[in-house]
Amino acid sequence: MTDRYAVIGNPVAHSKSPQIHAAFAQETGEDIEYGRLLAPLEGFSDAVKQFRAAGGRGLNVTVPFKEEAYRLATLHSERARIAEAVNTLRFDAGALYGDNTDGAGLVRDIRDNLGVAIAGRRILLLGAGGAARGVIAPLLAEDPKDLTIANRTLERAEALERHFAPRVRASAYAALSGSRFDIVVNATSASLAGALPPLPRVVFAAGSLAYDMMYGRGLTPFLEWARGQGAGLTADGLGMLIEQAAESFFVWRGIRPRTATVLASLRAA
Ligand code: ATR
Repeated sequence: MTDRYAVIGNPVAHSKSPQIHAAFAQETGEDIEYGRLLAPLEGFSDAVKQFRAAGGRGLNVTVPFKEEAYRLATLHSERARIAEAVNTLRFDAGALYGDNTDGAGLVRDIRDNLGVAIAGRRILLLGAGGAARGVIAPLLAEDPKDLTIANRTLERAEALERHFAPRVRASAYAALSGSRFDIVVNATSASLAGALPPLPRVVFAAGSLAYDMMYGRGLTPFLEWARGQGAGLTADGLGMLIEQAAESFFVWRGIRPRTATVLASLRAA
Protein backbone atom coordinates (compact mmCIF):
# COMPACT_ATOMS: atom_id res chain seq x y z
CA MET A 1 0.00 0.00 0.00
CA THR A 2 1.30 3.42 -0.97
CA ASP A 3 1.81 5.66 2.07
CA ARG A 4 0.06 9.01 1.83
CA TYR A 5 1.43 12.41 2.82
CA ALA A 6 0.40 15.97 1.99
CA VAL A 7 1.12 19.62 2.61
CA ILE A 8 -1.66 21.35 4.50
CA GLY A 9 -2.12 25.13 4.44
CA ASN A 10 -4.31 28.02 3.34
CA PRO A 11 -3.54 28.93 0.62
CA VAL A 12 -1.71 25.84 -0.59
CA ALA A 13 -2.23 25.73 -4.35
CA HIS A 14 1.14 27.41 -4.99
CA SER A 15 3.11 24.90 -2.88
CA LYS A 16 6.02 23.20 -4.60
CA SER A 17 6.18 20.48 -1.93
CA PRO A 18 4.27 17.82 -3.96
CA GLN A 19 6.75 18.19 -6.81
CA ILE A 20 9.73 18.03 -4.43
CA HIS A 21 8.52 14.95 -2.56
CA ALA A 22 7.61 13.16 -5.80
CA ALA A 23 11.22 13.65 -6.89
CA PHE A 24 12.50 12.40 -3.52
CA ALA A 25 10.26 9.31 -3.73
CA GLN A 26 11.58 8.54 -7.17
CA GLU A 27 15.19 9.04 -6.12
CA THR A 28 14.93 6.89 -2.99
CA GLY A 29 12.50 4.29 -4.35
CA GLU A 30 10.10 4.93 -1.44
CA ASP A 31 6.47 4.11 -2.23
CA ILE A 32 4.73 7.34 -1.24
CA GLU A 33 2.08 9.64 -2.61
CA TYR A 34 2.14 13.33 -1.67
CA GLY A 35 -0.73 15.76 -2.24
CA ARG A 36 -2.09 19.17 -1.26
CA LEU A 37 -4.68 19.77 1.43
CA LEU A 38 -6.49 23.10 1.63
CA ALA A 39 -7.82 23.46 5.18
CA PRO A 40 -10.42 26.08 6.10
CA LEU A 41 -8.91 28.74 8.40
CA GLU A 42 -11.09 27.50 11.26
CA GLY A 43 -10.82 23.84 10.33
CA PHE A 44 -7.18 22.84 10.65
CA SER A 45 -7.46 20.16 13.33
CA ASP A 46 -10.51 18.56 11.69
CA ALA A 47 -8.66 18.39 8.38
CA VAL A 48 -5.66 16.73 10.07
CA LYS A 49 -7.92 14.19 11.79
CA GLN A 50 -9.74 13.38 8.56
CA PHE A 51 -6.49 12.88 6.68
CA ARG A 52 -5.19 10.61 9.43
CA ALA A 53 -8.45 8.63 9.59
CA ALA A 54 -8.28 8.13 5.82
CA GLY A 55 -4.90 6.42 6.22
CA GLY A 56 -2.52 9.40 5.89
CA ARG A 57 0.93 8.92 7.44
CA GLY A 58 2.10 12.50 7.87
CA LEU A 59 1.77 16.13 6.85
CA ASN A 60 3.86 19.16 6.11
CA VAL A 61 2.27 22.24 7.62
CA THR A 62 2.52 25.67 6.07
CA VAL A 63 1.07 29.15 6.54
CA PRO A 64 -0.90 29.93 8.68
CA PHE A 65 -1.09 26.71 10.68
CA LYS A 66 2.40 26.07 12.10
CA GLU A 67 1.60 27.32 15.61
CA GLU A 68 -1.72 25.48 15.64
CA ALA A 69 0.07 22.30 14.54
CA TYR A 70 2.42 22.77 17.47
CA ARG A 71 -0.53 22.89 19.86
CA LEU A 72 -2.19 19.90 18.21
CA ALA A 73 0.86 17.62 18.38
CA THR A 74 1.04 15.37 21.44
CA LEU A 75 4.80 14.75 21.23
CA HIS A 76 7.43 17.26 20.06
CA SER A 77 11.03 17.25 18.92
CA GLU A 78 13.25 19.58 20.87
CA ARG A 79 13.67 21.89 17.88
CA ALA A 80 9.87 22.14 17.54
CA ARG A 81 9.56 22.94 21.24
CA ILE A 82 12.05 25.76 20.92
CA ALA A 83 10.32 27.12 17.82
CA GLU A 84 6.82 26.61 19.27
CA ALA A 85 5.91 25.85 15.67
CA VAL A 86 5.57 22.61 13.73
CA ASN A 87 6.05 22.15 9.98
CA THR A 88 6.14 18.34 10.03
CA LEU A 89 3.53 16.02 11.55
CA ARG A 90 4.01 12.27 11.71
CA PHE A 91 1.15 9.97 12.69
CA ASP A 92 2.66 7.46 15.10
CA ALA A 93 0.75 4.76 16.92
CA GLY A 94 -0.54 6.53 20.02
CA ALA A 95 1.04 9.91 19.27
CA LEU A 96 0.88 12.84 16.93
CA TYR A 97 4.56 13.68 16.55
CA GLY A 98 5.43 17.30 15.69
CA ASP A 99 8.82 18.38 14.38
CA ASN A 100 10.24 21.52 12.81
CA THR A 101 12.68 21.04 9.95
CA ASP A 102 12.85 24.68 8.79
CA GLY A 103 16.00 25.57 10.72
CA ALA A 104 17.85 22.46 9.62
CA GLY A 105 16.84 23.34 6.05
CA LEU A 106 18.22 26.87 6.34
CA VAL A 107 21.50 25.70 7.86
CA ARG A 108 22.01 23.00 5.21
CA ASP A 109 21.30 25.42 2.40
CA ILE A 110 23.71 28.06 3.71
CA ARG A 111 26.46 25.70 4.81
CA ASP A 112 26.32 22.86 2.28
CA ASN A 113 24.64 24.22 -0.86
CA LEU A 114 26.01 27.77 -0.77
CA GLY A 115 29.26 26.73 0.92
CA VAL A 116 29.11 29.62 3.42
CA ALA A 117 30.44 28.80 6.89
CA ILE A 118 28.24 29.83 9.82
CA ALA A 119 30.77 28.95 12.54
CA GLY A 120 32.61 31.99 13.83
CA ARG A 121 30.59 34.44 11.72
CA ARG A 122 28.50 37.47 12.71
CA ILE A 123 24.86 36.86 11.91
CA LEU A 124 21.90 39.25 11.66
CA LEU A 125 18.40 37.75 11.70
CA LEU A 126 15.55 40.03 10.63
CA GLY A 127 12.16 39.26 12.17
CA ALA A 128 10.93 37.67 15.38
CA GLY A 129 7.83 35.74 14.26
CA GLY A 130 7.40 32.01 13.81
CA ALA A 131 9.74 31.86 10.82
CA ALA A 132 12.57 33.50 12.77
CA ARG A 133 11.99 31.47 15.94
CA GLY A 134 12.29 28.23 14.01
CA VAL A 135 15.82 28.93 12.82
CA ILE A 136 17.52 30.42 15.90
CA ALA A 137 18.48 27.20 17.70
CA PRO A 138 19.81 25.47 14.54
CA LEU A 139 21.86 28.61 13.70
CA LEU A 140 23.28 28.75 17.25
CA ALA A 141 24.17 25.06 17.05
CA GLU A 142 26.60 26.00 14.25
CA ASP A 143 28.50 28.20 16.73
CA PRO A 144 28.41 31.64 15.09
CA LYS A 145 30.48 34.46 16.61
CA ASP A 146 27.28 36.26 17.51
CA LEU A 147 23.62 36.44 16.53
CA THR A 148 21.66 39.70 16.46
CA ILE A 149 17.89 39.73 16.02
CA ALA A 150 16.27 42.90 14.70
CA ASN A 151 12.52 43.37 14.66
CA ARG A 152 10.05 46.17 13.99
CA THR A 153 8.33 45.37 17.30
CA LEU A 154 11.38 45.40 19.55
CA GLU A 155 9.70 43.54 22.44
CA ARG A 156 9.38 40.40 20.33
CA ALA A 157 13.14 40.39 19.65
CA GLU A 158 13.81 41.09 23.34
CA ALA A 159 11.71 38.07 24.33
CA LEU A 160 13.96 35.95 22.10
CA GLU A 161 17.05 37.57 23.60
CA ARG A 162 15.86 36.47 27.06
CA HIS A 163 14.93 32.99 25.84
CA PHE A 164 18.34 32.38 24.27
CA ALA A 165 20.43 34.40 26.76
CA PRO A 166 23.30 35.08 26.59
CA ARG A 167 23.76 33.95 23.00
CA VAL A 168 21.40 36.33 21.21
CA ARG A 169 21.25 40.12 21.11
CA ALA A 170 18.05 42.06 20.29
CA SER A 171 18.21 45.28 18.32
CA ALA A 172 15.88 47.86 16.86
CA TYR A 173 16.39 48.36 13.12
CA ALA A 174 17.64 51.91 13.55
CA ALA A 175 20.26 50.82 16.09
CA LEU A 176 21.93 48.58 13.48
CA SER A 177 23.32 51.57 11.64
CA GLY A 178 26.97 51.00 10.78
CA SER A 179 27.12 47.45 12.15
CA ARG A 180 28.94 44.82 10.12
CA PHE A 181 27.63 41.29 9.44
CA ASP A 182 28.80 38.22 7.53
CA ILE A 183 25.34 36.70 7.07
CA VAL A 184 22.03 38.60 7.04
CA VAL A 185 18.90 36.42 6.99
CA ASN A 186 15.49 37.94 6.25
CA ALA A 187 12.88 35.98 8.21
CA THR A 188 10.22 38.71 8.07
CA SER A 189 7.13 38.34 5.94
CA ALA A 190 7.81 41.76 4.40
CA SER A 191 8.79 40.30 1.00
CA LEU A 192 5.31 38.75 0.73
CA ALA A 193 3.93 42.28 0.51
CA GLY A 194 6.76 43.43 -1.75
CA ALA A 195 8.11 45.45 1.20
CA LEU A 196 11.48 45.85 2.84
CA PRO A 197 12.15 45.91 6.60
CA PRO A 198 13.19 49.46 7.65
CA LEU A 199 16.90 48.72 7.50
CA PRO A 200 19.48 51.44 7.98
CA ARG A 201 22.80 51.23 6.15
CA VAL A 202 24.15 47.91 7.35
CA VAL A 203 27.68 47.08 6.39
CA PHE A 204 28.06 43.78 4.63
CA ALA A 205 31.49 42.40 5.42
CA ALA A 206 33.60 41.25 2.46
CA GLY A 207 32.16 38.06 0.91
CA SER A 208 29.03 38.30 3.08
CA LEU A 209 25.76 36.53 2.35
CA ALA A 210 22.26 38.04 2.17
CA TYR A 211 19.62 35.33 2.48
CA ASP A 212 15.85 35.78 2.07
CA MET A 213 13.75 32.92 3.39
CA MET A 214 11.12 33.90 0.81
CA TYR A 215 11.51 32.98 -2.82
CA GLY A 216 9.83 33.92 -6.05
CA ARG A 217 10.56 35.16 -9.50
CA GLY A 218 13.59 37.45 -9.56
CA LEU A 219 15.16 39.19 -6.58
CA THR A 220 13.05 39.96 -3.52
CA PRO A 221 13.11 43.62 -2.35
CA PHE A 222 15.47 42.56 0.45
CA LEU A 223 17.95 40.90 -1.92
CA GLU A 224 17.78 43.88 -4.26
CA TRP A 225 18.60 46.15 -1.32
CA ALA A 226 21.41 43.85 -0.15
CA ARG A 227 23.08 43.97 -3.57
CA GLY A 228 23.06 47.74 -3.38
CA GLN A 229 24.67 47.55 0.06
CA GLY A 230 27.56 45.42 -1.19
CA ALA A 231 26.52 41.90 -0.17
CA GLY A 232 28.91 39.43 -1.83
CA LEU A 233 26.32 36.72 -2.35
CA THR A 234 22.51 36.71 -2.42
CA ALA A 235 20.22 33.70 -2.07
CA ASP A 236 16.47 33.21 -1.84
CA GLY A 237 14.69 30.52 0.16
CA LEU A 238 14.24 27.93 -2.58
CA GLY A 239 17.20 25.90 -1.33
CA MET A 240 15.85 26.06 2.22
CA LEU A 241 12.46 24.85 0.98
CA ILE A 242 14.05 21.80 -0.60
CA GLU A 243 16.33 21.08 2.36
CA GLN A 244 13.49 21.32 4.91
CA ALA A 245 11.52 18.94 2.69
CA ALA A 246 14.43 16.49 2.64
CA GLU A 247 14.62 16.65 6.43
CA SER A 248 10.84 16.00 6.69
CA PHE A 249 11.23 13.05 4.32
CA PHE A 250 13.90 11.73 6.68
CA VAL A 251 11.59 12.19 9.69
CA TRP A 252 8.90 10.13 7.94
CA ARG A 253 10.92 7.53 6.06
CA GLY A 254 14.29 7.31 7.80
CA ILE A 255 16.04 7.97 4.47
CA ARG A 256 17.68 11.22 3.48
CA PRO A 257 17.14 12.03 -0.20
CA ARG A 258 19.75 13.82 -2.28
CA THR A 259 18.68 17.37 -3.06
CA ALA A 260 21.01 18.72 -5.78
CA THR A 261 19.01 17.52 -8.81
CA VAL A 262 15.67 18.77 -7.45
CA LEU A 263 17.19 22.14 -6.60
CA ALA A 264 18.67 22.49 -10.09
CA SER A 265 15.41 21.54 -11.83
CA LEU A 266 13.23 23.87 -9.72
CA ARG A 267 15.75 26.65 -10.20
CA ALA A 268 15.64 26.13 -13.96
CA ALA A 269 11.82 26.14 -13.95
P1 ATR B 1 5.91 34.32 10.42
O1 ATR B 1 5.37 33.08 11.05
O2 ATR B 1 5.95 34.29 8.92
O3 ATR B 1 7.22 34.72 11.00
P2 ATR B 1 4.61 36.37 11.95
O4 ATR B 1 4.71 35.62 13.22
O5 ATR B 1 3.37 37.13 11.63
O6 ATR B 1 4.82 35.43 10.70
O7 ATR B 1 5.87 37.35 11.86
C1 ATR B 1 6.08 38.18 10.77
C2 ATR B 1 7.43 38.87 10.96
O8 ATR B 1 7.67 39.75 9.87
C3 ATR B 1 7.50 39.73 12.20
O9 ATR B 1 8.83 39.75 12.67
C4 ATR B 1 7.08 41.09 11.67
O10 ATR B 1 7.50 42.18 12.45
P3 ATR B 1 6.60 42.61 13.74
O11 ATR B 1 6.85 41.58 14.80
O12 ATR B 1 7.10 43.95 14.11
O13 ATR B 1 5.18 42.62 13.24
C5 ATR B 1 7.80 41.08 10.36
N1 ATR B 1 7.28 41.99 9.33
C6 ATR B 1 6.18 41.81 8.55
N2 ATR B 1 6.05 42.83 7.68
C7 ATR B 1 7.10 43.67 7.90
C8 ATR B 1 7.54 44.90 7.33
N3 ATR B 1 6.87 45.48 6.32
N4 ATR B 1 8.65 45.48 7.83
C9 ATR B 1 9.33 44.88 8.84
N5 ATR B 1 8.97 43.73 9.43
C10 ATR B 1 7.87 43.13 8.96
